[in-house]
Amino acid sequence: VASRFGDLSRSVGSGVSVTPLPLGSISTDSAAAVATGIDELDRVLGGGLVAGSVTVLGGEPGVGKSTLVLQALASAAAQQRTSLLIAAEESGEQVRRRAERLGAAVDGCYVLATTDLDAVISAAGQLEPSILVVDSIQAVSDVACGSQAGSPSQVRECAGRLVRYAKSLGVATLLVGHVTKDGALAGPRTLEHLVDTVLSFDGDRHQSLRMLSASKHRYGATGELGLFEMTESGLRGLADPSAVLLGDRSRGVPGSIAVPVIEGRRPIIIEVQGLVGPPASGVPRRVAQGVVGGRLALLLAVLERRCNLALANSDVFVSIVGGLRVNEPAADLGIALALVSAVTGIPVGEDIVACGEIGLAGELRQVQATERRLSEAARLGFRRAVVPKSAPEGPIELELLRAGTLLDAVQLLFGADAAGRSRHRTGSGGGSELSGDRDLRTLVKNPASLVS
Ligand code: TYD
Ligand code: MG
Repeated sequence: VASRFGDLSRSVGSGVSVTPLPLGSISTDSAAAVATGIDELDRVLGGGLVAGSVTVLGGEPGVGKSTLVLQALASAAAQQRTSLLIAAEESGEQVRRRAERLGAAVDGCYVLATTDLDAVISAAGQLEPSILVVDSIQAVSDVACGSQAGSPSQVRECAGRLVRYAKSLGVATLLVGHVTKDGALAGPRTLEHLVDTVLSFDGDRHQSLRMLSASKHRYGATGELGLFEMTESGLRGLADPSAVLLGDRSRGVPGSIAVPVIEGRRPIIIEVQGLVGPPASGVPRRVAQGVVGGRLALLLAVLERRCNLALANSDVFVSIVGGLRVNEPAADLGIALALVSAVTGIPVGEDIVACGEIGLAGELRQVQATERRLSEAARLGFRRAVVPKSAPEGPIELELLRAGTLLDAVQLLFGADAAGRSRHRTGSGGGSELSGDRDLRTLVKNPASLVS
């Protein structure tokens, strides 16, 4: 191809052709994902690991990263895929013992305990595995680089070499990475730019629920959530997360409500809890767990202005049970109703779910995928749903309680006087909220029909 820019089909230094191709003629086969067989991992990866791709699996120490990769390799081995696990933090014996605990058939899984990157590359060159795992990237070092293992320059150097290696040989590569307390990958941020996919594995070490999500994914969407339970014999995928998340729900307690959220493509019913009380210290506290603080502030402002609920002088806590994070505005209505329930001391019926976005004018807005949320609620035995006026019909088992505004929804659930009267109750200054519960309950005219 000759043009005034010269011969376009010449090769540049690396020998790579510089001939542009029509977009439609470029092959997409090489990016085909191969399933690991661990369903929740494959869900987050959008099918599985892609040959030649590099994935970082980040998580706090003890969350279960080594367990997850070993299970994935064992599962790949069962599909006749050879893998190489670089144990840079453990001995081969320790890996073997974990594999036995997991009951993993691991004949196709090779282990090399080393921290030397040259040894990693040469072992991979000999074995030519289809999957290479380095556990962890902070523990390996390149002698040529000089600096200490785990230092930013060392992590960047090692990851860079592994990325080039993975691309040139078409090996699906997984790098285990430790994260610091605030959730950032230890080592340089550039690690995230170097690789194709960044997964993070979260969960409370003292609880068994584990969550896997992607913050970057070159081969697919990042919205999917993988859910596992850590058991005595390894990680078990949660096929029915709603049932597990609602398993320990307390009955008839004010401040709790069930909310259908969408995680990736999957609807999940979660429990939202609120607690409101006189401030423990001079300054009222707002604590949001699993909910963005700014969103809570917005909802509190709407409750105050549009529903006449005085919360400015109270401590307010909101929590998503199970440690999930909910960023969807669809959870607005549930959060607001949990708080009203906490303030009034009136429990929300346990067969009720709520979903809807709240606008600054206090109006309720429809959210995406309402039908799927409501179907999941019906499947789990819920019978009533508080939804925006414009929401589509749900399944027949579910009675829809339609509300145009947050105030409508509050009155529907807690009685006509709930919001208005709470102003009087809480208006006398901080500290009176909880003592006023009983007075309010007697003021509420007709809460009985809709609450448990
Ligand atoms: P591990 O995978 O070593 O975590 P990481 O590599 O992220 O540091 O697992 C850590 C914890 O998981 C450890 O405290 C023990 C627990 N565990 C189980 O509960 N069940 C199991 O089958 C295994 C292998 C580990
Ligand atoms: Mg580990």
